[in-house]
Amino acid sequence: MAGSCFVGEEIRVESPDVIYTDTEILSYYNYHDSRIRGNVVTPTTERLVFKTQRQLPKTGLLLVGWGGNNGTTLTAGILANKLNVTWNTKEGLNHPNYLGSICKSVTMRIGIDDRFMPVYAPLNNVVPLLNPDDLEIWGWDISSVNMGDAMRRAKVLDWDLQRQLYSNLKEMLPWPSVYVPEWIAANQSDRADNCLKGTKKEMLNALRQNIKDFKNSRRLDKVVVVWTANTEKFALIKPGVNDTADNLLRAIENNSSDISPSTLFAVASILESCTYINGSPQNTFVPGCIELAERCRVLIAGDDFKSGQTKIKSVLSDFLINSGLKLQSVVSYNHLGNNDGKNLSAPETFRSKEISKSGVIDDVVRANRLMYRSDESPDHCVVIKYVPYVGDSKRAMDEYISEIFMGGRNTISMHNTCEDSLLAAPIILDLVILAELCTRVQVKRDKDEEFTKMHPVMSLLSFLLKSPQVPPGSPVVHMLFPQRYAITNFFKALIGLPPENFMMLEHKVP
Ligand code: NAI
Repeated sequence: MAGSCFVGEEIRVESPDVIYTDTEILSYYNYHDSRIRGNVVTPTTERLVFKTQRQLPKTGLLLVGWGGNNGTTLTAGILANKLNVTWNTKEGLNHPNYLGSICKSVTMRIGIDDRFMPVYAPLNNVVPLLNPDDLEIWGWDISSVNMGDAMRRAKVLDWDLQRQLYSNLKEMLPWPSVYVPEWIAANQSDRADNCLKGTKKEMLNALRQNIKDFKNSRRLDKVVVVWTANTEKFALIKPGVNDTADNLLRAIENNSSDISPSTLFAVASILESCTYINGSPQNTFVPGCIELAERCRVLIAGDDFKSGQTKIKSVLSDFLINSGLKLQSVVSYNHLGNNDGKNLSAPETFRSKEISKSGVIDDVVRANRLMYRSDESPDHCVVIKYVPYVGDSKRAMDEYISEIFMGGRNTISMHNTCEDSLLAAPIILDLVILAELCTRVQVKRDKDEEFTKMHPVMSLLSFLLKSPQVPPGSPVVHMLFPQRYAITNFFKALIGLPPENFMMLEHKVP
């Protein structure tokens, strides 16, 4: 934008409501909303205090499914950035970057300058954020292949880049993992040669020991665990098994077959006080697991990285419905040829993905009773096919049909081709960076004595997740820009600035 400005260093707010110490930022914050009873609306203000630790902890990232396309692409991408490895393609010399990460490549509006022009800043100049280059990375995989060969197997990064990173990556060997064949597609069995043995309890203890050893040997302050392993089938919620934290722990003791590998990882992570993020669609966070996170005050987030098609869907459904056009049909076809696609070709794992993708237009439809009756929704169909030839370069074809003025029809069709893992890797980074920030933030109502941690279920990360987990009883927001502004307005709250309001009254009031 002509005349817009940029703050290229850490912001410092001057206000009686904001206090910077060497270690913390304290923000006394007025949270404004409105309470509605019948047709009577009362503006409300809640005085909150946020306390953000300024020092960055030494942080480790553990990936479950490390040897997969996402795991290797992320690991190699960070290494390339850290070592500033450049590589040649037929288009010329490439430099490493963090495109696709909102923490590294996006700015937010802070306010206006003396000429009333907007001023922007990167997120890590608002509050301190982890630098991905400083992350220590390791992980688990049911395939024993080292990260160098796993990167080659993935066929995602350019060859000249792979060639230069290979020797570093081949030294990285994944820890054995929990493999229970009935939880993922049968077609994955041929790569499962790196599996823990023993009962569920013994495997849980082994995972906990891995986390402890990693933390101690690297002298880490914090560890974040991310599931980027294959999609599992949905778990049935069974009373007495996984419905409460105590039942879940007992079921693990009893070696219950109803506990999925991903839930076992989540439990290990929570018991080791490590934030756990679920990047796949399955319902890892059974009620007992959420209760355990609440009890241990450990942050969790999920489900399912939101990379391409779902992001567009949440934007287009918002655009159409909030333009007053009645969206009536959404049909999405995908085909992809990577190992994720192979795993999703089994009906039970596909079902998890279908459920995860299907909720995305719900909130925008439910918010509009002028166009949709309470029992009415657009038709919504999701198809995913495995086509090996296209590899990681996923194809997504979508058709949106809406009813317009006076009986007209509006049909939008689109075709998207993109390397799936190159979209997912920066999203994993953002999840880790933002989740780590959440562990450094404490909050209280002004009148309360004690600060507490944020709610363990991090709905703040919804922008990055297809089927966002929210605190029990809290509404789910799928619309992309509200999700994004939830993040940037939260950043503003941490330094005592008002939320973005878009009114630009400075240019409208004479
Ligand atoms: P991938 O199939 O290349 O990698 C998954 C890895 O997990 C494999 O190396 C496999 O050996 C390993 N694995 C399977 N079960 C395991 C277990 N129990 N413990 C440890 N390792 C295990 O898949 P990709 O493309 O990396 O995707 C990973 C996950 O992320 C999938 O569930 C996918 O649906 C999800 N996802 C991916 C997105 C993308 O754009 N790439 C977007 C949204 C979600």
